[in-house]
Amino acid sequence: MDQADFYTGIVAELYGPLKSFSQDPEPYAAFIQQAGTPALELGCGDGDPLLDLRRRGLDVDGVDSSADMLERLRLRAGEEGVRVTVFHQRMESLNLPRRYGAIFLAGPTFTLLPDDATALAALHGIHAHLADRGAALVPLFVPVPTPAEQIGRVRTVVAPDGAELRVSVIAEQRYEAARTQTTLLRYERHHGSDSTVEDRPWTMHWYTRGQFEKLAATAGLVVTAVTDPGGKPASADAAGVLHFRLQAL
Ligand SMILES: C[S@@+](CC[C@H](N)C(=O)[O-])C[C@H]1O[C@@H](n2cnc3c(N)ncnc32)[C@H](O)[C@@H]1O
Repeated sequence: MDQADFYTGIVAELYGPLKSFSQDPEPYAAFIQQAGTPALELGCGDGDPLLDLRRRGLDVDGVDSSADMLERLRLRAGEEGVRVTVFHQRMESLNLPRRYGAIFLAGPTFTLLPDDATALAALHGIHAHLADRGAALVPLFVPVPTPAEQIGRVRTVVAPDGAELRVSVIAEQRYEAARTQTTLLRYERHHGSDSTVEDRPWTMHWYTRGQFEKLAATAGLVVTAVTDPGGKPASADAAGVLHFRLQAL
């Protein structure tokens, strides 16, 4: 299975109920207000923070590679009476009718692109879809290995229809040289005598600051700032999620 199709089927179904936190919309609202509209969220999934930003009246479109996640987003938008335009595309082969003042990912979704070549194609797509003087915001982090004691531990929630939903880490492999970590996740849904169990590999691919700056430059983009999610400049050795601001060279 392609990484871009990870959030489909049982994973999309369990995503909402198993979600432990939603992205804070504030940093993205502030970014859009600074960089300008229209704005575009890449990897918008089932609608966080896109729906919140639309409720604030911001002109924001969405893109996601999973039709199942977009179906959930449209359902939520309908229930909340929010109008939203979303496109079923991969961010590494973007082809949209508009140009954007602000293009962003909410949280480190960019690390789901499995290698440098795919990431470079996504950066070229971002460049091509930026309006004059537009800016992009790419949150990145270096994932930590899953602690040994958490492997095999099952997290359970009950769905609105009474089904028991479970997720657990089965195994993990980390390749420092390739900057990738693949976690084998087991997703389960049990309802009466019906049971579905599926194992899915989930890959993350990361960058040092210098590696990301070089990749961005190859796509004609320059990193103009690196901050923490609150917008404060990040020191060279800062850990956790960092927000990379980009503009056309
Ligand atoms: C971790 S979810 C985040 C969704 C949402 N922003 C949130 O915070 O709830 C990542 C989303 O990125 C999408 N995605 C993964 N790879 C993608 C790609 N190559 N192109 C576009 N979307 C992608 C997935 O389908 C998924 O909906």
